[in-house]
Amino acid sequence: MAQLAHDHPEVASAFDSLAGQYDALFGHNAISERLRQKIYSTIDFWVRPPAKILDINCGTGTDGIHLAEKGFSIVAVDLSSRMIAEANRKSQGLPNAQFLVASYENLDHIAANEFDLVLSNFGGLNCTRDLTEVGKQVADRLKPGGYFIAVVMPSFSLWETFSFAIRRDFKKALRRLNRAGTVTQLNGISFTVYYYSPGQVARAFSAGFEVIETFGLNVFSPPPHAWKAAKRFPALTAGLEAIDDLLCRLPVLRSIGDHNVMVLRKRLR
Ligand SMILES: C[S@@+](CC[C@H](N)C(=O)[O-])C[C@H]1O[C@@H](n2cnc3c(N)ncnc32)[C@H](O)[C@@H]1O
Repeated sequence: MAQLAHDHPEVASAFDSLAGQYDALFGHNAISERLRQKIYSTIDFWVRPPAKILDINCGTGTDGIHLAEKGFSIVAVDLSSRMIAEANRKSQGLPNAQFLVASYENLDHIAANEFDLVLSNFGGLNCTRDLTEVGKQVADRLKPGGYFIAVVMPSFSLWETFSFAIRRDFKKALRRLNRAGTVTQLNGISFTVYYYSPGQVARAFSAGFEVIETFGLNVFSPPPHAWKAAKRFPALTAGLEAIDDLLCRLPVLRSIGDHNVMVLRKRLR
């Protein structure tokens, strides 16, 4: 079969190779659980069950399953068929959650003007160099006035830069600034990650969306992959998390977390 531009076989293979270990490695530690709760509070603020939610890079389905259990109606897609197999295995018996293999760059087979909210959690959008096309795809799926919550790795992260710089790894400390993207490896499979500032995200989506909220995750506190170090210093970690909670919406600080959360609203036109 012909290879389509939105297939991204290297990204699919990389995440396929991770699917069986994903939850154990990244999905469920104290830090990622805390971040997920922040995303769920943000969703709860804007929509109520039985609203329809489309997750456009669902991974192993952790968010979709949680939201379906709360009464939301979920359609969730991911490029990686093994991620979707994990999601289907975990979600058995949930009638209001559907998990499908698809790219967020081509959602034509998902109903148009149907969803109250679209979610892209934890850096899925950092796998594309064409945010504008994704914005069109997402806008077409949403009802007028619907919400798009995008959790994106920005082009500068205070925590990441600092933690690599103190180890004198200056190449990695500055890797997010490379506009051409950064080649990354998962289980030995290479693919390119593109980092986007909130301004770049806002511009890419500006035809279809207005930005209504932006805040940073892990501006001062350790991100999920540093959970082992964080566990050794629980009081310090709790203190830094409290500072994040207080300051994460301020200009500049909201743009330099490990991830940024952006809430966008589809224009009424
Ligand atoms: C870091 S994981 C995040 C998964 C999940 N949202 C979570 O919170 O655990 C990024 C996911 O984005 C998916 N992804 C990357 N490019 C994609 C694309 N073009 N369309 C759909 N999913 C994609 C990957 O397969 C992977 O499962």
